Amino acid sequence: MYVCVCKAVTDSQIKNAVESGACTRKQLFNCLGVGGDCGKCSRHVKEVLDSALQQISANEDSLAA
Ligand code: FES
Repeated sequence: MYVCVCKAVTDSQIKNAVESGACTRKQLFNCLGVGGDCGKCSRHVKEVLDSALQQISANEDSLAA
């Protein structure tokens, strides 16, 4: 699903970037350009970013257990 229409960035692309090490909106902007035009997506970008970071954290916790 598209999160940023202006830059044609999907939630999958954001999740992949987070798995590759991006952990802030600025880093997502730098690697995907997301949020760089109208800015209307910034709240949704934050939600997808937070969700992806939580998922990674949960996976790391389950591996450590
Ligand atoms: S929808 Fe992302 S910058 Fe416009």
